[in-house]
Order: sequence, then C-alpha cells, then structure tokens
Amino acid sequence: MKLSKRLQAIYDMVPCGVAADVGSDHGKLIISLFENGQISKGYAIENKVGPFNRLKKAIEENNVSEGIIPMLSDGISELPSDVDIVIIAGMGGFNVIDILKKNPGKLKNVRTIIVDAHNAIPELRKQVCKMGYVIADEDIVYESGVYYEIIKFISGEAMYLDDPDIEFGPILRNEKSCTFKEKYQSRIKEIDKLLMNKNIPETKVKKLNLEKERIRAVL
Ligand SMILES: C[S@@+](CC[C@H](N)C(=O)[O-])C[C@H]1O[C@@H](n2cnc3c(N)ncnc32)[C@H](O)[C@@H]1O
Repeated sequence: MKLSKRLQAIYDMVPCGVAADVGSDHGKLIISLFENGQISKGYAIENKVGPFNRLKKAIEENNVSEGIIPMLSDGISELPSDVDIVIIAGMGGFNVIDILKKNPGKLKNVRTIIVDAHNAIPELRKQVCKMGYVIADEDIVYESGVYYEIIKFISGEAMYLDDPDIEFGPILRNEKSCTFKEKYQSRIKEIDKLLMNKNIPETKVKKLNLEKERIRAVL
C-alpha cells in the first residue's frame, strides 16, 4: 500500500510491538505496518460508524484480519492491555489531549505515543510530557500545502522543555531541516503581510512582532 508523505513519516517512527491506531479511518497506516511486519498485531480504532465500516472493509480486502482488529470505540477508553504503541494522527491537538487525558490508566503499558495533530502542537508537547513521556523524535513534512509535525513520545523521566522547545519542538529546532526553515520563513512573510494592514489593533501588532522575534531567534 502506497502511503502519503505524512503517513510514511509516521510509519518510519513506529517501533516493533503491538500498536493501536486511534482514529484509523481508511486504515492505510495500520494495514501497512502489519503487512510489512513492522508490528506484530494492530488495533484499528474508530468512534464513528461510517469510517468504522470503511475500515472493516479495508482490513478484509487487504487480507489482514488475522493481525488487525477493528474496534468501534471512543479514543483509548477500551484500549487492550497488550498495546504498547499508540498512534493518533490527523486530528486536532486538543482532541488528542482529551483522548489521552480521559483515560490515563489505559496508558499503563504504552511505551510509545506517536502524534500528528493539525493544531495546538505546543500544548500537546507540554501535556504529553506532563503525563510521563519524553520527546524521542520529531519530524516535519510538507504535503498538499500543509506543514505536518509528527512527534514521537516515549515513556521516561520527566523532560524539561523551555518555551522555544514547547513552541518549535526540541528536536525540530535543533535539526533545523529545510522544511522547518521553510515553514517559519513563510510564517514571517505571512506576518509581514498582516502588519501591512494599518487597521489592526495595537495589541495584535505587538503579538505578531513578538512571534516574529521568537521565530527569528530559532531560525
Ligand atoms: C482525519 S481522520 C485521520 C485518519 C488517519 N488517522 C490519518 O491520519 O490519515 C480522523 C479520524 O479520527 C476519528 N476520530 C475522531 N475522534 C475520535 C475518537 N475520540 N476516537 C476514535 N476515533 C476518533 C474520526 O472519526 C476520523 O475518522
């Protein structure tokens, strides 16, 4: 199964083990992981009937029913105890935080959490680290006009993150890949365009200028 650039970047961070793909939808990621022997077993979790039925069909059509178990349930509320990897991709950051915080006990055996959220990424870094995880890897990819940040958390001692780590990612800001630089150079251009509008309130001007300063400091 051919994966998109974003799904491939997530795939590349998945260690060996038993994975749950929460919000699996089309199931492409978890099916590929199992087909290629990257995981020994997978749970594909969906909380909506439409995507769940699509998911079941994809599992059957790809002949992976012996290794991928579809589940119609909310987040990690019914996470089986043999899961040691949780993947949550393609959702808003606050939804991801909510899913994890609603059932912290279910994460007892989970050593790896891989997240690709649309937004609220700084909040996500802060919250997941507070839950007893550290950031082990980060990647940024550009696809169809969107920059996606993928974060791999592993269980471990509390990790100190300063403000730039939280905002830009400790690994991303250290590596400064071309995609990372492009993302923030394009954000500076966007800010400059916004600042050309003389009617925006002074508080907003101040906020945008501060954001520009923070970006310049990491680039
Ligand atoms: C945009 S799709 C992302 C699909 C896939 N993970 C990806 O990254 O390409 C998000 C999916 O998450 C599901 N979802 C949202 N909240 C959920 C929850 N609390 N529990 C399980 N699934 C959820 C939605 O039904 C939807 O199918």
